[in-house]
Amino acid sequence: MPKIPRSVYVCQSCGSQSRKWLGQCPDCREWNTFVEERFRGTPKSNGGSSAYIGCRAAESVLYGDIEAQDDDRTLSGIEEMDRVLGGGIVAGSLVLIGGAPGIGKSTIVIQIADRLARSGTKVLYVSGEESERQIKMRGERLGVNAEDLYLLPETNLQAILAETGKLSPGFVIVDSIQTIYSEQVESAPGSVSQVRDVAAQFMMFAKQTATPVFLTGHVTKEGSIAGPKTLEHIVDTVLYFEGDRHHNHRIIRATKNRFGAANEIGVFEMTNSGLVAVGNPSELFLQERPENATGSVVTVCMEGTRPMLVEIQALVSGTKFGSGRRMTQGFDQNRASLLIAVLEKRLGFQLAGDDVFINVAGGMEIDEPAADLGVVAAIASSFRNLQVPPDTAVFGEVGLTGEVRGVLQAQTRAREAQTLGFTRLILPESNKKGLDKLLGMRVVGVKNLDQALDELF
Ligand SMILES: Nc1ncnc2c1ncn2[C@@H]1O[C@H](COP(=O)(O)OP(=O)(O)O)[C@@H](O)[C@H]1O
Ligand SMILES: [Mg+2]
Ligand SMILES: [Zn+2]
Repeated sequence: MPKIPRSVYVCQSCGSQSRKWLGQCPDCREWNTFVEERFRGTPKSNGGSSAYIGCRAAESVLYGDIEAQDDDRTLSGIEEMDRVLGGGIVAGSLVLIGGAPGIGKSTIVIQIADRLARSGTKVLYVSGEESERQIKMRGERLGVNAEDLYLLPETNLQAILAETGKLSPGFVIVDSIQTIYSEQVESAPGSVSQVRDVAAQFMMFAKQTATPVFLTGHVTKEGSIAGPKTLEHIVDTVLYFEGDRHHNHRIIRATKNRFGAANEIGVFEMTNSGLVAVGNPSELFLQERPENATGSVVTVCMEGTRPMLVEIQALVSGTKFGSGRRMTQGFDQNRASLLIAVLEKRLGFQLAGDDVFINVAGGMEIDEPAADLGVVAAIASSFRNLQVPPDTAVFGEVGLTGEVRGVLQAQTRAREAQTLGFTRLILPESNKKGLDKLLGMRVVGVKNLDQALDELF
């Protein structure tokens, strides 16, 4: 009988496994990422996870016998949070909340805990990072005073699961997954095997008891949740905190959701008394828009199911060096280069000797072709030193021949521009149908960039 290895080398970046140590990971090509990890129990192919106590025998169900029904959801009471989750917290779901240190993970989970506990759910908050007193201090500042909220400062997974068995909470928070360790895995907390085993055990707990579990997770410099990417495959929903310390607002984005639309975002403001939902994000992103400035254009993006107005700024200025630089913030650099090439070739703009800077105001990240026309308009405005009228919004995809192509959900976008008081909208001709009836707004359809720039200036 072949001997079962007692340890395995695991890539800490992607979770790839090997019997012997390797300098470079054959899967993700990272160097020096292999670490020896030992198992106390019998190693299994799924990374050493063993079953949560109380397994039942498997039994299949006839498809026709299953009643179609919506997921059983509880509202967290924080509107923007419920929106990102796809309409509330699903029973038995495992949700991972990732973000850089200090961005607000502990803050949002204690706020959710407070709301749920006040509405009659027994909540268990497990912290591997802070003592009861530290949590209480944050709670005092945030106005947390729910009765049915239990704190457990603990890092041992088996002890935590034993406590959940005793307490039978209706909602569990684990802050953070990197600090919890399973006795069945010998490697250090935060390592790939540990993080995976802990997540897998909480998944089984969540599914078998129909209890929602929220895990928080630190994000590495590269932007992924520390430990493996594979963690994201285990959980039902992955929420990421975006935004930086230079801005007060925080965006929570669902990058994966088994129970709702991915890419849905919730917008919050970090205040003394915690994260406050921002009801109208478009207003927030436009509030500092400069008046009478060239190179500033408002476009309408879709974030998940929600339209959002954002300001795109461009600055074109003569370079001191040979060829001009192209720098972008919040917009894909390659896409910007492509649009600049279209402006040069199709409209005769001479930009080779200029630096072109593009910035999405307010720290937003946009990644959809519908923003193309906004970017082009902003560059043209700065280049020609002509202002785009402040009551005008634009959207549309730009093709390589300079044509303006239709985008999805034009009507939703147009409504948002109308709500925010814009009186003129420039959009792809093919999107115009039916929209001119929108009250109080002049809707202009354009087929190509020539027409668009004629309309704008
Ligand atoms: N006394 C305070 N007053 C106002 N804001 C505070 C105070 N203490 C902490 N904060 C804010 O809360 C943030 C910490 O959030 P936290 O939820 O602990 O982050 P994470 O859990 O993601 O590391 C800090 O970055 C800071 O902005
Ligand atoms: Mg924290
Ligand atoms: Zn790897």
